[in-house]
Amino acid sequence: MRQVLESSKLSGNGPFTLKCHQFFEKELNFQKALLTPSCTAALEMAAILINLQPGDEVIVPSYTFPSSANAFLLRGAKIVFADSHPYHPNIDESLIESLITSRTRAIVPVHYAGMACNMDEIMRIAQKHNLFVIEDAAQAITTSYKGKPLGSFGDMSAFSFHETKNIGAGEAGMLVINNASFNLRAEIIREKGTNRSAFYRGEVAKYNWQDVGSSFLPAELVAACLLAQFENMSNIQEKRIAIWNYYYKNLLPLQTSGHLLLPSVPEDSTNNAHIFYLVCPSYEDRTKLINHLRQNQIEAVFHYQALHCSPFYISQHDGRPMPQANRYADCLVRLPLHTSLTESEQNFIIQTILDFYH
Ligand SMILES: Cc1ncc(COP(=O)(O)O)c(C=O)c1O
Repeated sequence: MRQVLESSKLSGNGPFTLKCHQFFEKELNFQKALLTPSCTAALEMAAILINLQPGDEVIVPSYTFPSSANAFLLRGAKIVFADSHPYHPNIDESLIESLITSRTRAIVPVHYAGMACNMDEIMRIAQKHNLFVIEDAAQAITTSYKGKPLGSFGDMSAFSFHETKNIGAGEAGMLVINNASFNLRAEIIREKGTNRSAFYRGEVAKYNWQDVGSSFLPAELVAACLLAQFENMSNIQEKRIAIWNYYYKNLLPLQTSGHLLLPSVPEDSTNNAHIFYLVCPSYEDRTKLINHLRQNQIEAVFHYQALHCSPFYISQHDGRPMPQANRYADCLVRLPLHTSLTESEQNFIIQTILDFYH
């Protein structure tokens, strides 16, 4: 970051941005990566790239962050929500086909807690019905499904580097493009609808307004902050995975005794230790647990509210109940998980939870 401040290149698409792209393309093996100001912005770019028209329908899980839906809604799409699995907050792929109509254009699988949706089945459905797949991989950096990285299955995917993520730079994101037919237009949309990127590469004599677009590239300071995290990624991941496994091992007795559920890593998915969550049997039980932890100076937080019954969308939803999305909204709680959590702090958290149930 000091190097950026001492250089004359503060705006976007400078050497640090290019190194971030290279990290995704060379180290993580994605076809094309474009740094964005957020995962939300990357999803918005994807929605523009697939040329969504008003009235088109997009299938999105109800248990997710509003950006997974907003990005498509902004283009006039109708959001068709789907429920989660009983054993995992990810979209229940067995429900998707019944939601497809002649207006359906895309499916947006969200890899909750960085764990993989059933991508084999989702890609099979998408191919059969000629639909785009945009993976919301906000939380999924380094996870793989059947040996292939999450974010590499759909036409495009969006990663988040918000400060709450495993790799964080305050606010930032990455659009990954797997379908190369989007490469050129993506650069233009990201550069306010101009071909400035091609101009800087010396490919055209002047740049001009070519298409719709917006400002979808962050400043170099953000890229430099992010690159430092990428360079340290294996240490960060090693630490997070150790913390996650330690929670699992020590809290397992509470699942065995039927007091609560621990996270279940879906078949064929690795675990990037993004979130360690518990699923309590009821809303009341979760409230008591959160309060008990708070009284002991432990901050444990719930997560998404189901979007199909949100104040904004409830009047537009078709009324189908989503019992699992509501259950995760009411019963899921996240435990502290960050690289500076010490072993004694973690022991204290575990003991406080065990005491609560005893
Ligand atoms: C599943 C999911 N998608 C998208 C986002 C938005 O990410 P960002 O804050 O980088 O825009 C989040 C944020 O937490 C998220 O959890």
